[in-house]
Amino acid sequence: MSAEPIDRHVFRGLMRNVPGQVSVVATGAPGNRMGLTASAVCSLTDLPPTVIVCVNRTAGAHDPIIRNGFFSINALAVHQESVARVFSGATRAYGEARFETGNWSPGVTGAPILADAVCRLECRLSEYRTASSHTVFFGQVIAGSASAEASPLLYMRGSYVGLEQSLQDERDQARNEVCVSGGRIK
Ligand SMILES: Cc1cc2nc3c(=O)[nH]c(=O)nc-3n(C[C@H](O)[C@H](O)[C@H](O)COP(=O)(O)O)c2cc1C
Repeated sequence: MSAEPIDRHVFRGLMRNVPGQVSVVATGAPGNRMGLTASAVCSLTDLPPTVIVCVNRTAGAHDPIIRNGFFSINALAVHQESVARVFSGATRAYGEARFETGNWSPGVTGAPILADAVCRLECRLSEYRTASSHTVFFGQVIAGSASAEASPLLYMRGSYVGLEQSLQDERDQARNEVCVSGGRIK
């Protein structure tokens, strides 16, 4: 067996099957805000409450996160797909102009918080490490709030999808499979 890494395109082809919660990572005060759509967000430990976020070193928000020392993570709800598109650079909006989409206000740390996001965390940057093209930011969670009734926005196989919608699609798919293999719909 080779110990060499697999081809990067093959890797991407594998990983696109893994659904990810879509978040917007943001930093800065009104008039000077930066943010990006990110799915590489993960809870690390609750001792102390810490999350990690992987941000491309070329992203506009990369250096501001380091300079400001604070950032927010806004896990998007299914009705916030337009926010995801704007912050992924799919429109011409950049920097402060991205915050015209969605209802944003400063949190207790001053970091931008998106109303109605599934989960909203404010973090103090505790450390960061460069790994190839990306930097892993470690954030200690200073404050948080959540909308327990909201349905999360996921990204999978190149498309945005709501969790409930994807579960329904899975059920429909399962029904089709029963039909195809068994000839009967149960
Ligand atoms: C669903 C989705 C998830 C993404 N996840 C990340 C991520 O975790 N980290 C990252 O650096 N870029 C991620 N991106 C890409 C950035 O959103 C995109 O490159 C953005 O334009 C960077 O901001 P900039 O235009 O300010 O440089 C993701 C894009 C999409 C559509």
